[in-house]
Amino acid sequence: MDKIVSLAKRRGFVYAGSAIYGGLANSWDFGPLGVELKRNIKNEWWNYVTGRSDMYGLDSAIIMNPKVWEASGHTGSGFADPLRECKKCHHRFRADVLEGDVCPDCGGELLEARDFNILMKTYVGALEDTSSVAYLRGETAQGMFVNFKNILDTLSPKLPFGIAQIGKAFRNEITPGNFIFRTREFEQMEIEYFIKPDSDWNEHFEYWLSSMKGWMEYIGIDMKKVSYLEVPDGERAHYSQRTVDIEFEFPFGKKELYGLAYRGDYDLKQHQEHSGQDLTYFDEEKKERYLPHVIEPSLGVERTFLALLVSAYREEEGRVWLAFKPTMAPIKAAVFPLMANKPDLVAKAKAIHKNLMDTHLGVIAFDDNGNVGKRYRRQDEIGTPFCITVDFDTLEDDTITVRHRDSMEQERVGVEDLEEFLRKGIRNEK
Ligand code: GAP
Repeated sequence: MDKIVSLAKRRGFVYAGSAIYGGLANSWDFGPLGVELKRNIKNEWWNYVTGRSDMYGLDSAIIMNPKVWEASGHTGSGFADPLRECKKCHHRFRADVLEGDVCPDCGGELLEARDFNILMKTYVGALEDTSSVAYLRGETAQGMFVNFKNILDTLSPKLPFGIAQIGKAFRNEITPGNFIFRTREFEQMEIEYFIKPDSDWNEHFEYWLSSMKGWMEYIGIDMKKVSYLEVPDGERAHYSQRTVDIEFEFPFGKKELYGLAYRGDYDLKQHQEHSGQDLTYFDEEKKERYLPHVIEPSLGVERTFLALLVSAYREEEGRVWLAFKPTMAPIKAAVFPLMANKPDLVAKAKAIHKNLMDTHLGVIAFDDNGNVGKRYRRQDEIGTPFCITVDFDTLEDDTITVRHRDSMEQERVGVEDLEEFLRKGIRNEK
């Protein structure tokens, strides 16, 4: 884990947040490479979602009417962690992960556990009193339930159908940590998939479970590190008849990567009651109204990011590389002139670099620092799948050398074929 964190910081994937001010505990900023990896995750997921005819995208507000969170149960004990405070140093801990009855930091006595609500509070408008309290959303899911009626009214979808959203969520976690694994500000990619109440919900559930497996394989998560935990009765939310936690073997232990839950009609029912609005769906075949049930695949962007780094990290005989699938790699290819002090080579390499940038295949780097070996090492470390070297033969026969990151094999490719070569290499994922 230390190696991954250090690489991520050193190479511009993830920086400590507000570092010039001494940082802010557990806040992270995504640097130029991190933002590409994060965007690739979100774009691939969004393409997957919008490539279906039964899915509707949404981008709802982060700050909603506080009644939303009362209806959903988030202001109550359903979204609270049990907290214990040390009498001596006043450090606070999550009671459910504490190993003993004394403070792990100073050995002091701990107060009894109490509920600590993790919704992030804010004030809306000029008055800072109870009438202006609002919350930063604790999950993207509620935005989709609150807009269910809008989508019915504007697009008249037929069941089953889903609403999907990517966006920030906030939780005042008592014990954030493990790099970007648990933070107070993070992004979710969620689907609320609405089904007929009398349909076989377990069939839909199994479908989404296998779809999530397909997604993990597609983006290059190491499936040997993935396991599935059927959340037992008593540990599931009271409205959920089945929940599966998809777990990943992180270097700090096996932890939840994603969740899949059957939520029944709990959310729509709550919002119908609290808002006083009719949220039922009209079934034209049966000529009846009912509240659909919902299956919810919920994915964290940062946890996907971290699982991809862990899955891709390779170290062999002093060589360190990230074996990202080309679709996920922050930089798709790097162009080098063999020697930086030969103007003809540099001009040719720059022209090839510009042409490749114009193809919009993704970010293409240009590097003429140090020797080619060092450039390979730099690109390997950030997971660039293809390195393209312009040499003296290029000036004669208009071919370049492509070096493959994982096998280190090299091949000669015509400059006019390069775009097609990269397009295939990036999308077909050899
Ligand atoms: N709508 C359901 C929901 O929010 P959750 O299990 O609380 O369920 C879903 O969260 C996913 O969001 C998790 O599986 C994880 O990927 C991500 N997640 C939750 N809390 C997080 C945190 N504090 N930091 C980073 N990611 C988090």
